[in-house]
Amino acid sequence: MTAPQIGLPRRLAVGGGALADSGRLVRELGFSRPVVVTDAFLSAQGTVARLVAALTDAGCEVSVFDGTVPDPTTDSLGPGLGVVREHRADCVIGLGGGSPLDTAKALAVLAEGGGTMRDYKAPTVTVGPALPVIAVPTTAGSGSEATQFSIITDSASDEKMLCPGPAFLPVAAIVDYELTLSMPARLTADTGVDALTHAIEAYVSRKANPFADGFALTAISTIAANIRAVYADGADRPAREAMMLAATQAGVAFSNSSVALVHGMSRPIGAHFHVAHGLSNAMLLPAVMRFSVGAAPSRYADCARAYGLSGDSDEALARSLVVAIEQLCADLAVPTPRAYGIDRTRWDELAPLMAEQALASGSPGNNPRVPDASEIVALYDEVYG
Ligand SMILES: NC(=O)c1ccc[n+]([C@@H]2O[C@H](COP(=O)([O-])OP(=O)(O)OC[C@H]3O[C@@H](n4cnc5c(N)ncnc54)[C@H](O)[C@@H]3O)[C@@H](O)[C@H]2O)c1
Ligand SMILES: [Fe+2]
Repeated sequence: MTAPQIGLPRRLAVGGGALADSGRLVRELGFSRPVVVTDAFLSAQGTVARLVAALTDAGCEVSVFDGTVPDPTTDSLGPGLGVVREHRADCVIGLGGGSPLDTAKALAVLAEGGGTMRDYKAPTVTVGPALPVIAVPTTAGSGSEATQFSIITDSASDEKMLCPGPAFLPVAAIVDYELTLSMPARLTADTGVDALTHAIEAYVSRKANPFADGFALTAISTIAANIRAVYADGADRPAREAMMLAATQAGVAFSNSSVALVHGMSRPIGAHFHVAHGLSNAMLLPAVMRFSVGAAPSRYADCARAYGLSGDSDEALARSLVVAIEQLCADLAVPTPRAYGIDRTRWDELAPLMAEQALASGSPGNNPRVPDASEIVALYDEVYG
C-alpha cells in the first residue's frame, strides 16, 4: 500500500466575520488580480459586493464572473474562462456553494493547463499547472474549500465527472459561518447531509487513514449534535458555526481518504434527474449503509459512537447507526425518488447506465463492500420508494 499523500490548503481563515479579512489574506499570499467566481444569487444578495470591497480596499484589481450554474456543466465554463484570461488573473476566488467553488477550480486548471474538463476526469490525477484558488464557501456542505476535487457535468453526455488532483486543492479558504445564515431550511438539510455523508464515507472507505479518521469522527459528532437545530432554526448562530466547521473538517477527511458508494450512486442521480447533490445522497444513505455495514462493522460502530449512540457490540452499534440515519432523513423531510416526482419507468430505464457511471467514477471501489453493476441496479430499485 502506498502512503497516503495528505493535501491541505495553506491558510484557513475560520470564524464569523472572516470575510472582512479576505483582502489582507489575498495580499499576504502574494496575489493582486483576483477573479471572483460566483452565482447570480450571491451577486444579488450583496455578498459579492462585500467581498469585492474588501479586496479593493487591500489594493487588488478585481473582476467578477457571476454566471456559474448549480452542478456546473462544461458548457457553463467558457464565459468564465474568458473573464479569467481577459483579466490576466493571478488567482481565482470561488464564492458560493460547491457549484461556484468547483467552477473556480475548473477555470483555474483550464486557464493554465488548457484542454477540456474531460481531459481531467478520474482516473487522471492533475498536479498542475493551475492558477491558485481561494475558496469562500457559503453553504455548510460540499467541503470543496478543502478538497482536491472538482465535479463538472459533461454537457454532451450528462456525466457528472469527478476530476481529482492537487491542482484542484485551494491554496486558502475563508470559512465564515455568517455567510450560511441566509440558507433556507431545505438547502441547510441537504448540504448538512452531504457533509455527514462525506465524514461517514471517509471513515469507512478502503482508503481511510489515521490522519483523515480524526477529522471524520469529529465532523460526525458535530453534525449529529447540530443538524436538527440548524434545520429548525436557521438563525441559531452556534449551530450554524458548528455545522460550517464540521463541513470543512469532513472535506479535509474525504479529500485525504475518499468518498464511496453513496457518492458513486448519487452523482448519476444528480446528472440525469437534477436532484440537489445533498438530497440525492440522503435518498441513498440508509440503504447503502444497510448494504455495507456487514463488511466493516467496527468502522461503522466507531461512526455510531461518534454520532452519540451506544450498544453492546459493533454489529449492534452499526445497525443502530443505520436506523438513526433513517430517522434523521425522516426528520429532515427527505423524499424518496418517487415522492420527489421522478418517473418510475425512466428511473428503471436509466438504472443500468447510472450503475455503469457510478462504477466508472471509482468511488464504489472504495466502499467496504464493493458492489457489481447488478447490485447497484438493485440498490437503485430499493431506494425508489
Ligand atoms: N469538489 C468537491 O469536493 C465537492 C464535494 C461535494 C459536493 N460538490 C459539488 O457541489 C455542488 C453542490 O454544492 P452545494 O450543495 O453547496 O450547492 P450549490 O453551490 O449548487 O448551490 C445551491 C443553491 O444554493 C444557493 N446558495 C448558496 N449559498 C447560499 C446561502 N448562503 N444562502 C442562500 N442560498 C444559497 C445557490 O445560489 C444555489 O441556488 C454539486 O455540484 C456537488 O457535486 C463538490
Ligand atoms: Fe458530496
